Amino acid sequence: MAFATRHFVRAASSSAASAAAKKLIVKHVTVIGGGLMGAGIAQVAAASGHTVVLVDQSDEILKKSTKGIEESLKRVTKKQFADKPEAGAEFIEKTLKNLSTSTDAAAVVHSTDLVIEAIVENQEIKNELFKRLDKFAPEHTIFASNTSSLQITQLANSTTRQDRFGGLHFFNPVPMMKLVEVIKTPMTSQKTFESLMDFSKAVGKSPVSCKDTPGFIVNRLLVPYMMEAVRLFERGDASKEDIDVAMKLGAGYPMGPFELLDYVGLDTSKYIIDGWHSLEPNNPLFAPSPLLNKLVQEKKLGKKTGEGFYKYK
Ligand code: NAI
Repeated sequence: MAFATRHFVRAASSSAASAAAKKLIVKHVTVIGGGLMGAGIAQVAAASGHTVVLVDQSDEILKKSTKGIEESLKRVTKKQFADKPEAGAEFIEKTLKNLSTSTDAAAVVHSTDLVIEAIVENQEIKNELFKRLDKFAPEHTIFASNTSSLQITQLANSTTRQDRFGGLHFFNPVPMMKLVEVIKTPMTSQKTFESLMDFSKAVGKSPVSCKDTPGFIVNRLLVPYMMEAVRLFERGDASKEDIDVAMKLGAGYPMGPFELLDYVGLDTSKYIIDGWHSLEPNNPLFAPSPLLNKLVQEKKLGKKTGEGFYKYK
């Protein structure tokens, strides 16, 4: 019995060790796109000890991204190191040391373990980028997209590394939001999936996994809910103000659906729903809304333009 137990323990620990050996421990990360999401992802990766190169189209954009990261780090450390300002300053310095920038993605991916793409939400532009980087990145490098609405499978198909390709869907603002959705396509290998789960944990997030299905988990539930709120308002069943109050006080949501739509951007919401509608035209949850279309046409896109469902000027 003692022998059997010892044998089992040895076998179990050696199989755990070999499974761990198979996983890729990500140390060096390339983040493409230094906008709202890419800058946040680069920040949390650098703050957790990864070497990060942030890539965008111009030095001017990258300067803005770096400045934003520095300001965000100051806010984070003010809270985290409230009574140890020296440790806070050291943390910022160390994080910024881990971070560099480049305008040439192809030139920097040669030594990277993980490429995270967070550029404009456009299938063709993303495909073109992945196709090009596939030629320059080493064999072991995992590619991941932060897309909210495009199919990971279609992006993976622009490369020859479909088994080393997955989704890493962060939430805005990245340094604050704890969730990452890790997306596994039918071609993503278990090793890649586990490496992405481990990376998400290493940057301090709580990952959940989902198949490559429209909207993954959060947006699949959230977008139809917001569209249903618009339809309720369009039919004249309730005012937008009352719908917002109702969902805040009755469901405990921090924002009502119209406040949230204005915050996300009506153009973004329209883009997502139109994309899903073209995939599943008979799904009533994905039906477009005439009112949403009208507001977007009038360039009333929400908070960012000063007016959406509400006025902000
Ligand atoms: P953004 O517009 O703030 O940033 C995109 C950045 O990518 C810009 O700085 C742009 O110059 C750069 N870029 C565009 N094409 C490029 C290229 N070929 N090479 C290098 N850089 C390029 O956009 P945001 O909001 O950061 O979104 C990025 C991605 O993240 C999108 O796929 C979006 O769906 C996704 N996402 C957005 C969320 C949000 O709340 N904004 C939440 C979760 C995911």
